[in-house]
Amino acid sequence: MRALSATGDDGLVELVRVPEPSVAAGEVLVDVQAVSVNRGELHRLTSATAGWRPGWDFAGVVADQESGTARAAGHLLPGTRVFGIADGGSWAERVAVPAARLAVIPDGLTVEWAATLPTAGLTALRTLRMAGDLAGARVLVTGAAGGVGRFAVQLARRFKAEVTAVVGRPERGEGLAALGTAEVVVGVEGVGGRIRPRPGGRRR
Ligand SMILES: NC(=O)c1ccc[n+]([C@@H]2O[C@H](COP(=O)([O-])OP(=O)(O)OC[C@H]3O[C@@H](n4cnc5c(N)ncnc54)[C@H](OP(=O)(O)O)[C@@H]3O)[C@@H](O)[C@H]2O)c1
Repeated sequence: MRALSATGDDGLVELVRVPEPSVAAGEVLVDVQAVSVNRGELHRLTSATAGWRPGWDFAGVVADQESGTARAAGHLLPGTRVFGIADGGSWAERVAVPAARLAVIPDGLTVEWAATLPTAGLTALRTLRMAGDLAGARVLVTGAAGGVGRFAVQLARRFKAEVTAVVGRPERGEGLAALGTAEVVVGVEGVGGRIRPRPGGRRR
C-alpha cells in the first residue's frame, strides 16, 4: 500500500510503498479516507529518521478483511464509517488499530470533519474534565483560536460554562462568538488580573 514516510530531512515526507499492516487480535483494519495534522506530529517529524511513519488521526471505513477480526473485535462490519487515533502510521491507505480506538462516524458528518476530532478534541475534553462540573462556571480558554482551543470553547459551552476566549490578535477571534463565547480578549495580559484559583479546585 502507499503511505507517507519521513525522508529524515527536516520534516519532509515522501509517498512510498510499504507492507500492508498486520492486524493483531482485537484490532480493526481501516481503509483511510481522511487524516488530520497535529502540531505534535509535525514537531516529531522534524527530528524523525528516514522511514518513520507519521499519523495519529484518521477517518475512513472498516476494511473488508477475510479474517473477520473486525467483527469479532468491535462488532464493526466492513464498510462502517469510523474515525480514530493511531500511535502512528495513519498517513497511509490502511491502518490497523485496537477496536477501542475507533468510534462510528455519525450520519451527516464527513470523514474529513471526523478526522479532525480525535487528538485535538480529546485533548480539550480531558483538560476540561479535570476541572470537574463546569455548569455555571466561568472558563478561560487560552489559545482559543487554535485547534485544541476551538474544541475547548465548544465543549465548555456544551458543559454549560461561560467562556472567555483569549487570542493573540483581533482577527484570530473570528468565529469564536458564533461558538458561544461570552467574551473574546486579545492577549492574556487583558485577563491576568481577573484570574484566581477556583474555590476547591485542584492543581495537577
Ligand atoms: N493538537 C493536538 O492535538 C494537541 C495535543 C496535545 C497537546 N497539544 C498542545 O496544545 C496546545 C495547542 O495546540 P494546537 O494544536 O491547538 O495548536 P495551534 O492550533 O497552533 O494553536 C495554538 C494557539 O496558541 C496560541 N499561542 C501561541 N503562542 C502563544 C503565546 N506565547 N501565548 C499565548 N497563546 C499563544 C495561538 O494563538 P493566536 O493564534 O491567537 O495568536 C494559537 O491559537 C499546544 O501547546 C500543543 O502542544 C495539542
